[in-house]
Amino acid sequence: MRLVTTVAELREAIRGARQAGKRIGFVPTMGYLHEGHRSLMVTARQETDFVVTSIFVNPMQFGPNEDLARYPRDLARDTELCASVPIDLLFHPTAAEVYPDRFQTKVTIGELAGGLCGASRPGHFDGVATVVTKLFGMVQPDVAFFGQKDAQQVAVIQRLVQDLNLPVEIRPVPTVREADGLALSSRNTYLSPAEREAALVLSRTLFWAEAQVKAGERDMGALQAAMIARIEAAPLARIDYVEIVDPLTLQPVTRLDESALAALAVRFGSTRLIDNLRLVP
Ligand code: PAJ
Repeated sequence: MRLVTTVAELREAIRGARQAGKRIGFVPTMGYLHEGHRSLMVTARQETDFVVTSIFVNPMQFGPNEDLARYPRDLARDTELCASVPIDLLFHPTAAEVYPDRFQTKVTIGELAGGLCGASRPGHFDGVATVVTKLFGMVQPDVAFFGQKDAQQVAVIQRLVQDLNLPVEIRPVPTVREADGLALSSRNTYLSPAEREAALVLSRTLFWAEAQVKAGERDMGALQAAMIARIEAAPLARIDYVEIVDPLTLQPVTRLDESALAALAVRFGSTRLIDNLRLVP
């Protein structure tokens, strides 16, 4: 595995693989890697011939009052995890490499970015779309791997590649969870022991909702209300949103006819966690 920091080195390192006709797989990340990220890389390893991972904490997708400055970083541990897959190439650019002087172009997402996380994180998905478009231009992957954990991000990126005719296949990968159900996230490291315990209400509520659907519940308004009540009754939890939406349009679903997405964001102290689950009638 090679580690490169500039776009020129990245292009040079990929050129040989591309000329040999290899399919390039790409896993963009912000680092502080865990088993969720690893699952994306392992899937890329299985499904493509040359695997590139990027680690870049993208300032453009953080709001002024968000956690950019304290976002966790550990390049030595991340490098080990990447080498254990193993991937072929790790790209770790500086902010100046990605956003040089006079940078002034932005990708803007429409209504898909307005609801769910977009409502409390204005500009977030424009920042994600801009950096992902840039990374796609740098790596030029055949397939890019994204976690279902960030379901709105997957919807936004799928819309982005269609709208801009980007020649890359988007491959969603299932959410990896701890044994007790908590979805893995780099931000879990912020949680105190009490908050970590309280955060179990997220996955428990989602799996409870899934069980209700299995038992015949089709009224998504009633299910949403019941989910909110369960979370409100839990200690330390402050709801940002709890919604049941169409997985592609992210518009609210009132009756479950086809598969829907139950998605939630909840704060525990200063930490905001998200999770989601497909509901299939
Ligand atoms: P980051 O939060 O580091 O996540 C990188 C990728 O790992 C994303 O596709 C995310 O959905 C996936 N991922 C995170 N936790 C996961 C889990 N528990 N199971 C499965 N996949 C998981 O998402 C970003 O970075 C950034 O927005 C990025 C796309 C890199 C653009 O800056």
